[in-house]
Amino acid sequence: MKEIAKDIYYIGINDNDIDLFENVYPVNKGVTYNSYLIMDEKITLLDTVDVRKSDIWLKNLDEALNGKEIDYLIVSHVEPDHSSNIKAVTEKYPNVTLVGNKKTFEFVSQFYDINPNVKKKEVTEGEVLNTGNHNLQFFMAPMVHWPEVMCTYDKNEKVIFSADAFGRFGSISEEKIFEENEENWLDEARRYYINIVGKYGTQVQALLKKLSTLDIKIICPLHGPMLNNNLQFYIGKYDTWSSYKPEEKGTFIAFASIHGNTKNVAKKVYDLIKDKEQAEAVDLSRCDVYEAVSKAFKYDKMVVLASSYNAGLFTPMEEFLNILKTKFYQNRKVAIVENGSWAPSAGTCMKAQFLSMKNIEMVPEIVTIKSSMKDEDVPKIENLVNSLLGN
Ligand SMILES: Cc1cc2nc3c(=O)[nH]c(=O)nc-3n(C[C@H](O)[C@H](O)[C@H](O)COP(=O)(O)O)c2cc1C
Ligand SMILES: [Fe+2]
Ligand SMILES: [Fe+2]
Repeated sequence: MKEIAKDIYYIGINDNDIDLFENVYPVNKGVTYNSYLIMDEKITLLDTVDVRKSDIWLKNLDEALNGKEIDYLIVSHVEPDHSSNIKAVTEKYPNVTLVGNKKTFEFVSQFYDINPNVKKKEVTEGEVLNTGNHNLQFFMAPMVHWPEVMCTYDKNEKVIFSADAFGRFGSISEEKIFEENEENWLDEARRYYINIVGKYGTQVQALLKKLSTLDIKIICPLHGPMLNNNLQFYIGKYDTWSSYKPEEKGTFIAFASIHGNTKNVAKKVYDLIKDKEQAEAVDLSRCDVYEAVSKAFKYDKMVVLASSYNAGLFTPMEEFLNILKTKFYQNRKVAIVENGSWAPSAGTCMKAQFLSMKNIEMVPEIVTIKSSMKDEDVPKIENLVNSLLGN
């Protein structure tokens, strides 16, 4: 148990054994499930943890309480990575009152069979819960991951419990629970944001607007470290991401190559760009596609290169573009290279995907490679890169 501010403690858990978060996102640096305690006249618990860590968390909670009871359990989000121990808490501490909004209680009963006699307090936007010396104010954040999400603001200590917002993948030091290095937060926070919350930029903008009216000293998210320094950096990144603006000038190169020839073209494209501006290339067959998606969002430009496949598009590229589309990839400039040996089809498929996205400026000419890159292909590739970079 680590003190965050007066009476406020971190009792979250690192999960370093997990392979896939939400059974899809690789987390080889682990993830945390954050839970907080406010030890005031009335004792408040904010969220629980994933079922994977129930035993250790319940034991830690017991130790932290040191014989005291829990008065309130604020449920900011019913996704099971945070709600799995609600039932256990109500059984162990039967005097607890669950605090949530109308949707929270609908979802809690959908997921868990909780004794109907457990007390519930339904709160609405702006409502304040007094726990003695602390006043906790609730702000609804619908779709900042799920419909029932709400943030809690400790008006006395100026702490915002931000639910899934401002979280990042990766476990944290048990000694140093505050992020010390913004750059260390950035890549895993972007991968988390774009993939988990990214579709709901408008709703994140609405939350940021509410937060801008508050005096915030500490951000306590449900995953990753707490933030207490240079908060404008983190809020600024959330503003950029949720407004679908590129974060940096540069080119992301994503390729999907069956036999390696398209990969050679990608290497050529990378070499042509890297001396002029920032460039980063990934092999979609061999990377975490969700990492690739978040990198695509980082830059203002992208080159996609893919082999044709059964009169369509080689599947790693197809999957990448499908995910990009669901995350509302937009406001970027894109260039396309296809490879085909008898009836190239990859280019048309990729172009169709970008045409269905909002505000994508495409370099008009698609470069077609027939099986392998020849000397005569090089000027076409150079022209494509020049058009992309605006030269
Ligand atoms: C299973 C399979 C299906 C393919 N389907 C097509 C196709 O429909 N049209 C086409 O022009 N080439 C097709 N190709 C050829 C690939 O596009 C070829 O691998 C590519 O032109 C060479 O680039 P690479 O080495 O990057 O894969 C296919 C190849 C494989 C292995
Ligand atoms: Fe969530
Ligand atoms: Fe979560």
